Amino acid sequence: MISQKLMAARQTEAQNGKVIREGDRPCFHLTPMSGWMNDPNGFSFYNGKYHMFYQYNPYSSTWDRMHWGHAVSSDLLHWEYLPAALAPDEVYDEGGCFSGSAAAMPDGRMLLMYTGVRNERDETGRVRDVQTQCMAFGDGTDFEKYEGNPVVDETQLPEGASRWDFRDPKIVRQADGTWLAFVGSRPQDGSGQILMYRSGDALHWSYAGKLAENHDRYGKMWECPDFFELDGKHVLLVSPQEMLPEGFEFHNGYGTVCLIGDWDGKGALAEDHIQAIDYGIDFYAPQTVLTPDGRRVMIGWLQNWDSLTIREPWEPWAGQMSLPRELFLKDGRLMQRPLRELALLRGKPVTYENRLINSPTQLHGIRGRVLEIELVVRPKPMEQPYHRFSLWFAANEKYHTGLSYRPYEGTLKIDRKFSGSRRGIIHQRRALIGVREELRVRIILDRFSAEVFVGDGEQVMSVSLYTPLEAEDIIFRCDGSALIDVKCWKLGI
Ligand code: FRU
Repeated sequence: MISQKLMAARQTEAQNGKVIREGDRPCFHLTPMSGWMNDPNGFSFYNGKYHMFYQYNPYSSTWDRMHWGHAVSSDLLHWEYLPAALAPDEVYDEGGCFSGSAAAMPDGRMLLMYTGVRNERDETGRVRDVQTQCMAFGDGTDFEKYEGNPVVDETQLPEGASRWDFRDPKIVRQADGTWLAFVGSRPQDGSGQILMYRSGDALHWSYAGKLAENHDRYGKMWECPDFFELDGKHVLLVSPQEMLPEGFEFHNGYGTVCLIGDWDGKGALAEDHIQAIDYGIDFYAPQTVLTPDGRRVMIGWLQNWDSLTIREPWEPWAGQMSLPRELFLKDGRLMQRPLRELALLRGKPVTYENRLINSPTQLHGIRGRVLEIELVVRPKPMEQPYHRFSLWFAANEKYHTGLSYRPYEGTLKIDRKFSGSRRGIIHQRRALIGVREELRVRIILDRFSAEVFVGDGEQVMSVSLYTPLEAEDIIFRCDGSALIDVKCWKLGI
C-alpha cells in the first residue's frame, strides 16, 4: 500500500521534475528529480541495474523531512528517475527517513535499511530526534516498510551511546548468508564511533561491538559509514562533523575520511592509515558499490553542510552527486580515478603539445562547460620555475573559477570566488600536493561542478559552482613561462 504522503511526494516530483529543462541540470551527475538532495543512499546493484537513492525533499530546494528519492542506471552515467521510494509516513520516522543502504535478499526482494527519526518532546518542552534503524522491502520500485520496525532501537545501544545520534546503517550480506550493519553513533565523549550489529535474517539484530572509535581525533560525530574490502585491506569511510583543521588537512568543517587497516571479521578495525578523501569544498557522505566486474566505485554528495548557501532557495533543484570514482590502494593510500566508462562520453580530442604559456591564453577548440581536460604543466626553464600557473574555467569577462599551482609552495588551489556566488562563504581550498617537476591533472567539468584528479588520483578536489552557463571560456595563465600538454574532450550523453 502506498501511503498518502508517498503518493503526494510522487505527484509533486512528477509535476515539478518535468519542467526542469535537461540543459539546466548537469549532463551526467545525478540531481534530485525535483527539490532538494543530500546524501547518496542505498547505492547498490540489483536486478541488472545500479540503484541510487538519495536524501530528498521533493517539495522545495531546502532540507526538510527527508524522503528517499530514487534513480537507476546501467552505467552510472545515464540516470533514469524512478518514483520516490520512502516518505516519512510512520510514527517511528515522522521526522524523516534518514540515510541508509540497500541489498538484495536471498528471496530476490530488495531490502532498504534506513534511520527512522522520531521527534520526542522532553519534560522541558524541548524537541529532540530519537533515531532508530528500520527496514523496508520491495521489488526495486515500490517498498513496504516492515511491520516490526524499528529493528534496532536504543535498547540495543552500548553504554553511553546517544539515542539522538544513531544513524546511517550500512548493511552488508556476508559470504555465509548472515548480515552485518555498521551504524554511526555518538559515545559519551561527544565524538564518534561506528557500531556493528549482526543478524541471521536482516530483521532480528544484536549488538556486536565497535568497529572504530574516534576519540576526538577526526571531528565529532561520525556519519554515513561504509565499510569494504579493497586490495587486501579493509577500508572504512566515515563523514565526521565539526572537523578541526590540521595543517592543510580537514579544512571543510564537514569532510570525509577513510581509515585503512586489517579486520578479522569480528573486532575493531586495526587501523594503519588514515586520510582525507577530498581537498575541494564540496564532498560528503559517500557510499560505494561493487560493480559486477569487481570494481569498488564511490559516489558522494557534491555539497557540504557548511557551504550550502551557494545554491539559492528558489532554484528548482539543489544538490548533486559526484562523479562515480573507482577506488584502489597504492602504497597503502586510497586513490581515486573517474569511472572508466566516462571515456565513452568523449567526443574527438583536441590536443596541444609543448605549447608555451607566458600570458593569458585561450586555445582553439578548448571551451565549454561539459569537458574533460588532461593537463601537464612543466616550468620553462626547469631551474627557474614560474610562481603560479592557473587554469581558469567557466570563464568570461565577469566570471571564472581558477585552479592554480604554486611550485614553490607545492600547493594546488581551487578558487570559485568569481563563479557567480553572492555569498561570503568559503570559496577556496588549497591542497598540499608537493613540489613537482611536472604537474599532471585531470579535470572533469559538468556544467555546475568541477572535479580535479591530481596525478594518478592521489588527491581530488571537488566543487559545485553555479556560474551562468554562457561562461565557457578556458584560459591558461602563467606569471612566468610554462610548457603545457593538453588534451580536451567535450563530453556528452
Ligand atoms: C549526513 C546526514 C546523515 C543523515 C542525513 C539527514 O549528511 O546528516 O547523517 O542521515 O544527512 O538528511
